[in-house]
Amino acid sequence: MKTTLQIEISKTTQSKLAATDFDNLVFGKSISDHMFIADYKNGEWSDLRIEPYQPLMLDPGNATLHYGQSIFEGMKAYKNEAGEILLFRADANQKRLNESAVRMCIPELPEEIFMEGLMTLLDLDRDWIPNKPGYSLYIRPFIFAMDNYLGVRPSETYRFMIFTCPVGHYYAKPVSVKVEQKYTRAAEGGTGFAKAAGNYAGSLYPALLAQKNGYDQLLWTDAKTHENIEESGTMNVMFMINDTLITAPTHTGTILKGITRDSVLHLAKEMGYVVEERFLKVAELEAALKNGSLQEAFGTGTAATIAHISKINVNGTDFELPEKPDYAFSHQVLKKLDDIKYGRTEDKRGWIMKV
Ligand code: COI
Repeated sequence: MKTTLQIEISKTTQSKLAATDFDNLVFGKSISDHMFIADYKNGEWSDLRIEPYQPLMLDPGNATLHYGQSIFEGMKAYKNEAGEILLFRADANQKRLNESAVRMCIPELPEEIFMEGLMTLLDLDRDWIPNKPGYSLYIRPFIFAMDNYLGVRPSETYRFMIFTCPVGHYYAKPVSVKVEQKYTRAAEGGTGFAKAAGNYAGSLYPALLAQKNGYDQLLWTDAKTHENIEESGTMNVMFMINDTLITAPTHTGTILKGITRDSVLHLAKEMGYVVEERFLKVAELEAALKNGSLQEAFGTGTAATIAHISKINVNGTDFELPEKPDYAFSHQVLKKLDDIKYGRTEDKRGWIMKV
């Protein structure tokens, strides 16, 4: 790859590749050999480098540890049959990272640093990208505050990093969810749309309570009325009621603008489905579960891809949603997405970038 930026590369002398069991990958546990780093100081991003993946040295007074000024992205790279590396909608992740940055008072990262850092890292660690169906390389770009200062104000220094992990499925089986009407993930005016670390931290306790009762995840509702379904912990959610695909809109600023969400909506329209970006009421969901008009429910996300929802708890009652693999929209759309991501079909929408 031709780079225009100066990226200093120090390669590892102790690759973990041969010791990695690609047949038993646990999401986020096996990390590739290298990481990309850029630092922000004196008003600019500089010192671009790739180093062996290794622990960070942080001062105990590091602002991120105390006030959580930290954002991240999740994206994936795939290998096609010819062994070429295909990157899915990386431009959308780059833009969303900067939207999160603005909300969290983090300086925006120039597009070329994101893209060239990423491409150089992927090229260097290309042998880490699995070439089996259902497997991919999960990419984690993130930015965090680097000031060592306990006063509450935006940091003046930051670090941008990317590391990658070969992964299989995030959810090994269909997920069960519970509609959450006490706790809140995001309120209007808050940070719900941003991929901010704190959003995930705040969701852990209510999710844990649900997990203790046997559910994998929550279906979050709006902070004000708890009547509208918003999203799930690690993914956006979609419902097929009769032949209409319904998912929460993003204008309230409480929903993560998922790139898989957007891709599924695009494909659903192309497939001739009616798509409604509107809030599904909890009462409407309950009625659709009772009268059988809810055909399927699923989550969408980079890590989760398309995750079938097999059980929904609404107002204390469990409703089972059997999978319908033969004709379900979620199965068809997952196949369409995979065909694009693994290069098995023509990329008509400009979603694929070759490394
Ligand atoms: C992703 O899908 O990339 C996410 O960010 C979810 C993650 C928190 C597992």
